[in-house]
Amino acid sequence: MAPATFSGPVLAAPAASSPGGVRPGQAPSLAGLDRAPFCWSRRDQDRLPVRLRGALPSWLRGDLVRTAPALFEHNGWRADHWFDGLGLLYGFRFDASGVSFRQRLLASQVAAEAAQGQTRLASFGTRTQRSRVGRLLQPVPQATDNANVNVIPWQGAWLALTESPHQHVIDPDSLASRGLVRYDDGLPAGLLMSAHPHFDHASKALVNVGTSLGRRNQILVFRQKPGESRRQIEGSLSLKRSPYLHDFGVSERHVVLIDHPLRLSGASMLFSNRSLMEHHRWEPEQGTRLRVLDRQSGRWTTYETDTCFCFHTVNCFDDGENVVFDFLAYDDASVLAALGTEALASGQRPGLTPRYLRARLRPGGGRVELETLSPQGFEFPAIAYRRQHGQPYTVAWGASFVETSWQSQLLRVEAGQVRRFEEEGMTYGEPIFVPRPQGDSPTDGVLLSVGCHQNEPLSSLVILDAESMLPLAHCQVDLSLPLGFHGNFQAR
Ligand SMILES: [Fe+2]
Repeated sequence: MAPATFSGPVLAAPAASSPGGVRPGQAPSLAGLDRAPFCWSRRDQDRLPVRLRGALPSWLRGDLVRTAPALFEHNGWRADHWFDGLGLLYGFRFDASGVSFRQRLLASQVAAEAAQGQTRLASFGTRTQRSRVGRLLQPVPQATDNANVNVIPWQGAWLALTESPHQHVIDPDSLASRGLVRYDDGLPAGLLMSAHPHFDHASKALVNVGTSLGRRNQILVFRQKPGESRRQIEGSLSLKRSPYLHDFGVSERHVVLIDHPLRLSGASMLFSNRSLMEHHRWEPEQGTRLRVLDRQSGRWTTYETDTCFCFHTVNCFDDGENVVFDFLAYDDASVLAALGTEALASGQRPGLTPRYLRARLRPGGGRVELETLSPQGFEFPAIAYRRQHGQPYTVAWGASFVETSWQSQLLRVEAGQVRRFEEEGMTYGEPIFVPRPQGDSPTDGVLLSVGCHQNEPLSSLVILDAESMLPLAHCQVDLSLPLGFHGNFQAR
């Protein structure tokens, strides 16, 4: 991927020719998304039988729950970006009777409005459809509640998340939304929270970051303890133009934000129907900054490094006085436009192979050089999270998607050595590590990854030995599940 040599609104919306969502007869067809890995079949059934091939680990008990963009056109409404498809929740449950499968479309306000043919809610890459009067009455649109990015276990239920102030509480059995999380803490109502909160093992709290848009954008780092409706601020940062924050790093003593040069001015959103993506500008000459928060003092230290764009961090830990921050970096932000629905429907395949990099951040700030941990690029990183998040670690897993095929590879990366798993015709997504109880090492366990077949209405949850990357079992379901982003496993 060539580095961008321009500045300005790169992120021209994939279908920016008219004010929002729907243009039957005007916009190119999205019929190409009726094929794997984006289609969702068997929408009429919420439970489907599972065919088991191989043997399940006897100790595996719990729920794998995932989310994915699943509907891209509905009653005249359409999503212009992959990130804006209506969210599907699905789960595989492992219990004494074996394995079962269930699924449910998220009952969001966006889905309700889409059923009427248009939506007024701001989303990542699809324009809103608000009248001139509506825009005058509400200069900045409300944010989407289409929580299709991540789903995490929390307090006996699940939270479905996207980059929004709105988070759905999900019933663990039915996968139905119980409604939105209600906070009572005086933080800005429009706080756009990351869909990648991290679990702080020391405090048993979630740590997350959010951006409040205004004349100057406020980035807030906060902690959320179980049973509390107040989010406690650990640090704040005021920036005229703030970066697109998808993920971040958390160690015991620090938080690391990636201030890459894909930045947003809150003022540009006033009275606008344009998508959030269109309001961001790629300014490579501004470079990338890493901003490190001391979680005790609230003080920030800034580092400059090479221009890059990042969705995901891999891990972050303290090493004496230093902070080690590992992340996946693209040369530029062009991947965002490549994930527009028209591009995907036309058969284009984005290369999701960012570099796996390490920044060693020494006290005092300044320039930092990036070390390549592996030349093998991958996305959707996973680690042995419960034991090694925020700690020194050696193994990362991920999924690699090249531009020539939707057949993905699942990878195990350790000290530059890569072990791979792939199957003919299968698009596997994010692997999730589940530790074996009383395992011999932190990485003793299995990987769970859901994939769909490119030519048959078939999806499969593959269970891999996390060390050898050899398959132990497949849990097959006769439907096409769309490729999604994230999910988690909760032991029971
Ligand atoms: Fe993500």
